[in-house]
Amino acid sequence: MKRVAILISGGGSNMVRLAEDMRGDHPARPVLVLANDPDAGGLAKAAALGIETAVVDHRDFAARAAFEARLTEVLEAAAPDIICLAGFMRILTPAFTARWAGRVLNIHPSLLPRYPGLDTYARAIAAGDAEAGCSVHEVTAELDGGPVLGQARVPVRPGDTPETLAARVLMQEHRLYPAVLRRVADGETGRIDLPPPGGMD
Ligand code: GRF
Repeated sequence: MKRVAILISGGGSNMVRLAEDMRGDHPARPVLVLANDPDAGGLAKAAALGIETAVVDHRDFAARAAFEARLTEVLEAAAPDIICLAGFMRILTPAFTARWAGRVLNIHPSLLPRYPGLDTYARAIAAGDAEAGCSVHEVTAELDGGPVLGQARVPVRPGDTPETLAARVLMQEHRLYPAVLRRVADGETGRIDLPPPGGMD
């Protein structure tokens, strides 16, 4: 049974879907939800799901290295096999990604390698892209640069705003991330590409 720690910064909608998917017949179980913000809404959701929670507030640390050292201490106590970043909004240094190499996944709201970084929806709309989507990738020292393990695509529609596109992409994140985590926990390799679900032209 693989042990999964999930890192969040906000509402944790992806964390909830991952945790719910692991409730059934699944090769993994959530062992910790860790937030860098004590006010992260996802903490209460994790507690309601019976998952142990922790907070490592990045504002308590003058240096990124000290913050990450504390992150690693808390994570080591949970002994995760897999760490899922889910709406986690802190950039992790190569020291952290090296310490947890090969075990950290992230969901990013673009079709990587397009649009690493922020404001992915506005950039796709500004570029006139016909499609957008999300990617689950291995976290490496390069921001949003690790091997892509899965993608889900959505149409960009005329009149889309970053908010309307974000909502459409988020729905696909909630399908993609559980599907990729299940395969990773099963030790399967090979990339997943989810087509837009029925009814979404
Ligand atoms: C989502 O837009 C996701 O793409 C990004 O963080 C945002 C919030 O995710 N990674 P969540 O609702 O906190 O899971």
